Amino acid sequence: MSQFDVIHNRLNTNSVKWDSLVSTYGKEDLLPFWVADMDFQASPAISKALNDYIKQGIYGYTLIPDSLYDAIITWQKKQHHYELTKEDILFSPGVVPSLVTIIQALTNPGDALLIHDPVYHPFTDVIQNTERQLILSNLIEEESLFKMDFDDMEEKIIKHQVKLFILCNPHNPGGRVWTREELQRLGELCQKHQVLVISDEIHQDLVFEPNTFSSFQTIAPNFKDFSIVVTSATKTFNLAGIKNSMIFVKNPLLRDKLQAIQAINYQAEINTFGLIATEAAYNEGKEWLDELLVYLKNNIDFACDFLKAQLPQIKIMKPQGTYLIWLDFSDYNLPDEALMAKLVDDAGVVVNPGISFGSKGTQHIRFNTACPRALLVEGLEKMALTFR
Ligand SMILES: Cc1ncc(COP(=O)(O)O)c(C=O)c1O
Repeated sequence: MSQFDVIHNRLNTNSVKWDSLVSTYGKEDLLPFWVADMDFQASPAISKALNDYIKQGIYGYTLIPDSLYDAIITWQKKQHHYELTKEDILFSPGVVPSLVTIIQALTNPGDALLIHDPVYHPFTDVIQNTERQLILSNLIEEESLFKMDFDDMEEKIIKHQVKLFILCNPHNPGGRVWTREELQRLGELCQKHQVLVISDEIHQDLVFEPNTFSSFQTIAPNFKDFSIVVTSATKTFNLAGIKNSMIFVKNPLLRDKLQAIQAINYQAEINTFGLIATEAAYNEGKEWLDELLVYLKNNIDFACDFLKAQLPQIKIMKPQGTYLIWLDFSDYNLPDEALMAKLVDDAGVVVNPGISFGSKGTQHIRFNTACPRALLVEGLEKMALTFR
C-alpha cells in the first residue's frame, strides 16, 4: 500500500477543499474534486523541519538564509537545467500576489495584457483588479491537447499594443506541458513585439514522462531579458496554505522595478514557515515527489480509462502534467449551471466549472485527481451512475 492510499479526514481543519463544501453547496456528503490541493500528507522531511522550528518556541522576524537560496538554485538546476544565482531570486507570499506585483511594477493602468482562454482564472482577476485591459487568445484543441494559436496571438498583440503576456507553463486547466519549440515560437513573437512575458511555472515539477518541462528562461539566452518566472514549492509538495513563492528575474532593470514595488508595499518579508518548508522540500523531497508522480500518473490513467469505458460521451483531455483533468461534457448538451447542478445534486461530486477558466470552458469541468485512489473510485462511480 502506498502512503498516498491513506485517507486522511480533512473535515474540520478549515480546508477550503473540504470545509467549504457545505457552506458553498448547502449539502452534506459531497466529495471534492475541485480546489487544486492534494489530500495527501506532506513529506515527513517537511513536517520534521516545521516541527523542529515549532519546538524551539520563538517565532520572531526571520532572515532569508543562504541555505534556502542554495536549495532553490540546486533544485532548479538539477530538476530543470535552469541556472539561477542568488541575485535572480525574489520572494513573495504567493504566485498570484507576485503576478499583481509584476503587473503594478512593469505596466500602467489601461495597458493591454494578454492571456489564453481557458486559463487559471486568477490571471483574469489580477488584470482586471489592477485596471489593465484584458485581451484573450483562445487555445485551439487538436488531438485532445491544447495548442497556442500564434496567428491569433500576434494579431491581438498588434491590434491592442499588448504590453505583457502571462503564460501558464505547464497549463492549468489543460495539463499541457509546452514544448521547447512552442516556447521558442512564443518567445520570438513576444520579443518581436516587445511584449514582456510572465511565465507561471508553479506546476513545473508535476510532469509525466515522456513529457519534459522547460522553463521559459531556458529556451534562448536572450529570453531572460524580457521575461520573469514565478513559481513555488507549494503546488509540488502540497503546501498551499503555507504561502511562499519565488520570482526569478534576471534582467536587473526589471528586478529593480519589482523590488521598488515590493518595498512600497512592504512585501519583501516572508512567512518563516514558508521559508523552512520550501528549503526542506527542495533539499529532501525528491524521493517523496518521485513516489507522488507515480501515484498521480496511475490515478490519471485510472480515471481516464474508467471514464472512457463508462461515460464515452465525455471527451477527455489527458494531462501531460498537473493532476487536473479537463473534461468536455458538451455531448450532454447541458447549460453550465445545469451541468454543475447534476454533478453536485445528483452525483454528489464537486468540481471546478470549466466556464470559470474562460468562455472556452463552457460545458467543461476541471477534475482534480490528487486524492487516495479509493476516493477517486467513489467519485467516478457516482458520476457514472448519474451520467450513464
Ligand atoms: C497556475 C497557477 N498559478 C498559481 C497558483 C496559486 O499560487 P499561490 O497560491 O502561490 O498564489 C495556482 C494554484 O492552483 C495555479 O494553478
